[in-house]
Amino acid sequence: MKDPLPQTIYLKDYQVSPFLVDTTDLVFDLGDEQTRVTTKLAVRRNPASTDQVASLELNSKGSVELQWVEVDGQRLDNSAFSLTHNLLILPNLPASCVISTEVSIQPQLNTSMMGLYRSRTMYCTQCEAEGFRRITYFPDRPDIMSVFTVKIIADKVSYPVLLSNGNAIERADLDDGRHTVTWHDPFKKPSHLFALVAGTLSAVEDSFTTMSGRDIPLQIFVEEKDLDKCAHAMLSLKNSMRWDEEVYGREYDLDIFMIVAVDDFNMGAMENKGLNIFNTSAVLANPKTTTDAAFLRVEGIVAHEYFHNWSGNRVNVRDWFQLSLKEGFTVFRDSQFSSDMNSPTVKRIEDVSFLRTHQFAEDGGPMSHQVQPDSYMEINNFYTVTVYEKGSEIVRMYHSLLGAETYRKGSDLYFDRHDGEAVTIEEFVSAMEDASGRDLTQFRRWYKQSGTPVLKVRSAYDATAKTFSLNVEQSCPATPGQSEKLPFLIPVKLGLVGADGADMVLDDAGQTEVVFEMTEASQQLVIENIDERPVPSLLRGLSAPVKLDYPYSAEQLAHLMANDSDGFNRWDASQALSLSVLNQLMHDSLHERPMILDGQLVEAYKALLSDTSLDPAMVALMLQLPTEALLHENTDIIHVTAIHDARSFLRTALAGCLASQLEAIYHHYNAKQAYAPNVQQMGGRSLKNTALGYLMLVDRGVELAWAQFQSADNMTDQAAALTALVNCPEASDYAAKALSQFEEQFRDEALVMNLWLQVQATNAQPNGLERVQTLMDHSAFSMSNPNKIRSLIGGFANANHINFHNPDGSGYQFLTEQILALNTVNPQVAARLVTPLTKWKKFPEPNRELMKQALQNIANKPNLVKDLQEIVSKSL
Ligand code: BES
Ligand code: ZN
Repeated sequence: MKDPLPQTIYLKDYQVSPFLVDTTDLVFDLGDEQTRVTTKLAVRRNPASTDQVASLELNSKGSVELQWVEVDGQRLDNSAFSLTHNLLILPNLPASCVISTEVSIQPQLNTSMMGLYRSRTMYCTQCEAEGFRRITYFPDRPDIMSVFTVKIIADKVSYPVLLSNGNAIERADLDDGRHTVTWHDPFKKPSHLFALVAGTLSAVEDSFTTMSGRDIPLQIFVEEKDLDKCAHAMLSLKNSMRWDEEVYGREYDLDIFMIVAVDDFNMGAMENKGLNIFNTSAVLANPKTTTDAAFLRVEGIVAHEYFHNWSGNRVNVRDWFQLSLKEGFTVFRDSQFSSDMNSPTVKRIEDVSFLRTHQFAEDGGPMSHQVQPDSYMEINNFYTVTVYEKGSEIVRMYHSLLGAETYRKGSDLYFDRHDGEAVTIEEFVSAMEDASGRDLTQFRRWYKQSGTPVLKVRSAYDATAKTFSLNVEQSCPATPGQSEKLPFLIPVKLGLVGADGADMVLDDAGQTEVVFEMTEASQQLVIENIDERPVPSLLRGLSAPVKLDYPYSAEQLAHLMANDSDGFNRWDASQALSLSVLNQLMHDSLHERPMILDGQLVEAYKALLSDTSLDPAMVALMLQLPTEALLHENTDIIHVTAIHDARSFLRTALAGCLASQLEAIYHHYNAKQAYAPNVQQMGGRSLKNTALGYLMLVDRGVELAWAQFQSADNMTDQAAALTALVNCPEASDYAAKALSQFEEQFRDEALVMNLWLQVQATNAQPNGLERVQTLMDHSAFSMSNPNKIRSLIGGFANANHINFHNPDGSGYQFLTEQILALNTVNPQVAARLVTPLTKWKKFPEPNRELMKQALQNIANKPNLVKDLQEIVSKSL
């Protein structure tokens, strides 16, 4: 039998809860066979509810087994309540009372990693979005906020550390070898912010003095072997705390802040009040085991979860349709932070690449949805790139439309007005309106209209009148459920670049950059006193999450690439130029015409490589051609092989033309210096390793890569060398040696072994599936660890296009088998693996039919969980 046909939940059906819960007192008795949870809820009727006689409904899910229920200390007999498979319904309650229950659960058998479960030797929790109901009977919705007191009882030898939210208020040893710790969190919170951890954990400790002078102990709990990998997260945490005070005026509120690292975790990390729980991959970092990219990721995630303390915890969401209120806002906040800590341009380029590759793809496919959806079946499926990344872009637009100062007034107003409340996106918009005095009615469309708008710009230069006019049209493609769209308010930041490469003056005030606020479907912008035909630099920094259509010539792009004062747009010009070349090559490859290297691109790259004034990190980014995934997004019909061949051809041809320059760069940045994970060094390593990647293609890299692999004192260089060797057909002996040495060296480092799996999973050489299947049996792999699944299976399906899309269908069949194996075991992870298949309509035959068939095979599985049912049914 299937899960009961998944029910669709609608935003329009939202009703306030008939009851409120003032306090929640929990006692956990953790045992090997079963865990007992007693719950005491002080409930009262909600004065805001129109139904003052409603029954109280408490949710449950999974194997929660009810032992008894009491109302005000009176045990209820079975006729006094009703119990369905996921609800406990209590009728005829007085205006206020205390509801007590006892349940038993079996966290040791919980494979879903929602609710209370075990990760290796410890107990931990994940309650967002609806995990708390797997722990006890509770009105598990974010607008029910209460004060929690939590007593944990466990064996003292196996579980010396017992943690929950807030402050430890009582500790005691029991006679039987067990002990107890009681925690109290003075802030009202929704159930999804509850957390509990029990285990043998070691802590790295530090402290932070807040703006008002309070000293806050900071603790990061890990397994003892990982104590040497906490320094970076601790520094990132302190930087985040300072930054949120300085930039948003937000001070930390509790008396202690704790982070716990767990190995088995569905997501990156979770912002539980005062007790953030992190995937080890999102917190541990050390030069020997962690790449630069992973260092930056740790910094960003630590900041993100910390920032939620205000944007999400102090001001919470009313219902899950408002998810972007906390996630989009917090992603914007963490991107501002990372930008301030590192290079703003590099950070923006990374964010935009991610947005274009993943969010634009989602918005152009069957799963396209609004930033504030109208409906969902399974909320876990709505932690999407649209809710997160497009949501963050929307907040970024307030910042640019209102200016930093007014934006800050708006955020202050929002936090002050709604502190302690559970609110909607509308409250955020209103705060921005009230702070700025602007009417943001039209701007609200960004939340409710799905799809990526296209901005079509055409220009004309009038030499006699000395005017440059831009004709701008906006449109937005139809998306599921939305055929017609109204015009968006689109901030278009622009400048005009003259023949000498300098920005032109655009107005009497002497400005060289303006933000044109597009509000109509079609508008004209005329700029006066322009002495020569300029090259427009449009949508600087990607000032809105839209696609640009402007007929740039290759010369114009090369001009922007060399001169634009906006670093982001210089990079974007390099992308647009290589994209046009790649499109031509793809076309040639498809029609079996010889592929020929474009001279303009080579010249532009030569100029780029000889400009010693440039930031090496930027040069590296400009050298990296658009990924195959981005090319897939950018085309109507995905010809996997033609795309792969065109990109490989261009890389090899460029390597041939630029070899000497690349070699010089490689040696320049390979100079020995003590490793530090700072911006300058990261930029150098990034350029060096990009150069190495090219040199591998022309027989000048193999020895360099092997030497680098053996002598590297840090994971960035070691992993780059390993990747280079593994992907090089001429280096198979070295590759095999490097892989086995690496395995030998890092056998006991789970996160490094995940990288080892991923490097092999993404190797584009023939027989990729066989290699992946062999690795499935390797001891470094496990189907019960989400990180390993993401590295091996996810790496293969999302980043090894040529092998995954093998026209014999074997890649799809493999993925289908793994998804079905995870169906009831871990629905959340299973559902995320389906994404590559949902794009079937963009592929030519035979892939199209094979992908569709794979989805059909998933749909036909008896017992399919609703997470999978929703995605499969919407994409078929
Ligand atoms: N609140 C989420 C964690 C979460 C996600 C819980 C999905 C339940 C379901 C957390 O704040 C988050 O967004 N984590 C991200 C990382 C972040 C840097 C974007 C994650 O886990 O990937
Ligand atoms: Zn978040």
